[in-house]
Amino acid sequence: MNKTTLFRTTPRIVMGPGALAQLPDEVRLLKARKVLLVTDPGLVEAGVADRVRDLLDAVGIAHAVFSDVEPDPRYEIVLECLDTIRKEESDLVVALGGGSPMDIAKTAAMMARNEGPISQYFGVDLVPNPGLPTLMIPTTAGTGSEVTPIAILSDEDEKLKKGIVSGYLFPHTAILDPELTLGLPPAITAATGMDALIHAIEAFTSVNACAMTDLLAFRAMELLYDNIRTAYANGANLEARSAMMEGSLLAGMAFANAGVTAVHAFAYPIGAEFHIPHGVANTLMLPHVMRFNVLGNVPKFAEIADAFGLVVSDLDELGCAEEAVACIERLADDLRVPRRLSDFGVKDEDIERLAQGVMKVTRLLANNPRVIELQDAQEIYRAAL
Ligand SMILES: [Fe+2]
Repeated sequence: MNKTTLFRTTPRIVMGPGALAQLPDEVRLLKARKVLLVTDPGLVEAGVADRVRDLLDAVGIAHAVFSDVEPDPRYEIVLECLDTIRKEESDLVVALGGGSPMDIAKTAAMMARNEGPISQYFGVDLVPNPGLPTLMIPTTAGTGSEVTPIAILSDEDEKLKKGIVSGYLFPHTAILDPELTLGLPPAITAATGMDALIHAIEAFTSVNACAMTDLLAFRAMELLYDNIRTAYANGANLEARSAMMEGSLLAGMAFANAGVTAVHAFAYPIGAEFHIPHGVANTLMLPHVMRFNVLGNVPKFAEIADAFGLVVSDLDELGCAEEAVACIERLADDLRVPRRLSDFGVKDEDIERLAQGVMKVTRLLANNPRVIELQDAQEIYRAAL
């Protein structure tokens, strides 16, 4: 141990098949008088939002619903959600969904107790006051947002994704019910599951990794790598779905503290400009960034091969690390995640601009195990073209 570290997480985490039934008890513990349920139109249509409302109705907990969450939410959506919180006089914000509803809920709850404009809070530790309490019910496995102090929003004008990072964004409670993920289509299972695996890989190799985040990230890599193919190929397999949710949670707990690194930094500019879904953009960049990063911490990248269960007894550390990268490429192919930037219309002339975008994501580049210069960023994007 050569530096002081801090470890924080969501204080109450309820997990397991059927865990959603615990919602009324958890809401009562937070002494809420009126809940605002934040979700998206797809979950309303699928009847999942109604299941949550029925649970609250059955025990007489008053609630309202905000379901105008879009994928890659613009920060204007936060303001609409905030208006609803004020109009309904809600004192607890419950999010149901993937990363977008959770991040909107976390940010709107924060803004309910902090002055605008919201733009002044983009960055690290810039929020002055605690917000309203929040309770997260993820329906993917996943972003890990239920256990992170981070919200990611899209700035359409600057074509950038921006993060608010503040201890006040930690949710108070997370309810993880893998049954909610049984109906996810294979492509979403693949993209969100790969995002979770990348959280684990990046937390494990971050320069801010510590003993606790290493334990969490290693176990997350084992669980996610072991189960993602089954969850993709047979979405009804509850055992695989449970393992994926557990892995996503542990990865979230790890990266909430160790941070993610350059894979996410490379994914943000292409996600914002070419509207590539977050998990897909990350998967596409992962082998190229990993290959570049290996030299920054060869023993750690070699350990990833162990987490993947590879038999590598005849390889040296560098060989193990390279084998782990090859595994990721096979996995992306098995899950049919697009592997080339050109599949999304990115052209060679876009690379310089995108690479400049990467260099602005200093919050994440600071965690990266290898220093990245502008020319490196261009070469990494070119390798993914
Ligand atoms: Fe992510």
